[in-house]
Amino acid sequence: MAHALSRMLSRRMCQQWTPLQKTPGSTSRVLRQPAGRHAYATGPNPRPGQNPFKIWPFIAITLAGTGSYILMVRSRTDMAPPPPPPHEQIAAPKKDTPTFSPASVTVLFVLGGPGAGKGTQCANLVRDYHFTHLSAGDLLRAEQDREGSEFGSLIKEYIRDGKIVPMEVTVQLLENAMTATLEKTKGGRGKFLIDGFPRQMDQALKFEESVCPAKFVLFFDCPEQEMQRRLLDRGKTSGRSDDNAESIKKRFKTFVETSMPVVDYFDGQGRVVKVVATKSPEQVYKETREKLEARLGKNF
Ligand code: C5P
Ligand code: MG
Repeated sequence: MAHALSRMLSRRMCQQWTPLQKTPGSTSRVLRQPAGRHAYATGPNPRPGQNPFKIWPFIAITLAGTGSYILMVRSRTDMAPPPPPPHEQIAAPKKDTPTFSPASVTVLFVLGGPGAGKGTQCANLVRDYHFTHLSAGDLLRAEQDREGSEFGSLIKEYIRDGKIVPMEVTVQLLENAMTATLEKTKGGRGKFLIDGFPRQMDQALKFEESVCPAKFVLFFDCPEQEMQRRLLDRGKTSGRSDDNAESIKKRFKTFVETSMPVVDYFDGQGRVVKVVATKSPEQVYKETREKLEARLGKNF
C-alpha cells in the first residue's frame, strides 16, 4: 500500500512536471515562456536553487499511510483466529483406529432415496435378525427437539431445506447411540442397521475412519415418481416438516447430487447390495432377506 501510494504520488508529480507540447495544427508553442519556465508556472520565477514544487505534503501523506498500514498489519496478526462453528468443535480429535472393531460390531449402511422404504425394511430386519436400528434422520430429529440442544435450530433449518446436516453432528450422534447400545450388551458385540446414512461422502469417510468400517450398503432402489407418491401419502399423518411437495423436491435433488455418489463409491468397492424397492413391502423384504443371507450367511 505504501509503495502503491508513493508510486501514485510520483506518477502525479511526473505529470505535473511535463512541459506543454505543441498543439496539432499550430505552428508555435501554446504559451511562449521565458527560457527555463513552464507554461503552468504562475508566480514569480523561483530563485536559483529553490524548488518551486512543495514536496513536504506528499512526504507527510506517504509516511502517515505507511504508518497506519503497519499498525493495521500488526493488529491483524495479534488477533486470534475466529473459533470454529459449534458443530466443528464437537468433532472428536482425529483417531488412528475406529472406536469399534468390525470383528465384534457389524454395521450395515441402509441407503435409498427418501420414501424408498428404508424404515419399513429395517423394522423387518430388526424383528428377524436382532439388529439395532439407528436412523440418522430420527437421531437428528430427536436432537433437534431436545431441550437445551445447541444444534436444534441448525438441524431444523437443514432438515426443512432437505440439506445434509454438517457431518460432525450426525457422526457424533451415531457414535453416542452405538456406545449406549454396546454398553448394555455382553462382550461389546452388536449388529447395527445405520439407516439413511451416509448421505454425503464426508459422512462415509469420517464414520468408517473414526467409528466403525461397515460391511456393505443395503441400497433400496426406487424411482422418484413412486417415492413422491409414498411421501405425499405419508405426509398426511407423519407430521414431518419435510414431507411436503416443496421439501420433497429439494430432498430428491440432494439425493441425486450428494447421496448417489456415496452409493457409487461403495459400489466401486464391491460393497453394495441392491434391492429393487418398487414392489409391495412384503416382496421387497423377501428379496432383501435373500440377498442379505447370500452375503452374510444365515447366522451372522
Ligand atoms: O432419513 P430421513 O429422511 O429421515 O432424513 C431427514 C433429513 O435429515 C434429511 O433430509 C437431511 O436433512 C437430514 N439427514 C442428514 N444426514 C443424514 C440423514 C439425514 O443430514 N445422514
Ligand atoms: Mg427414514
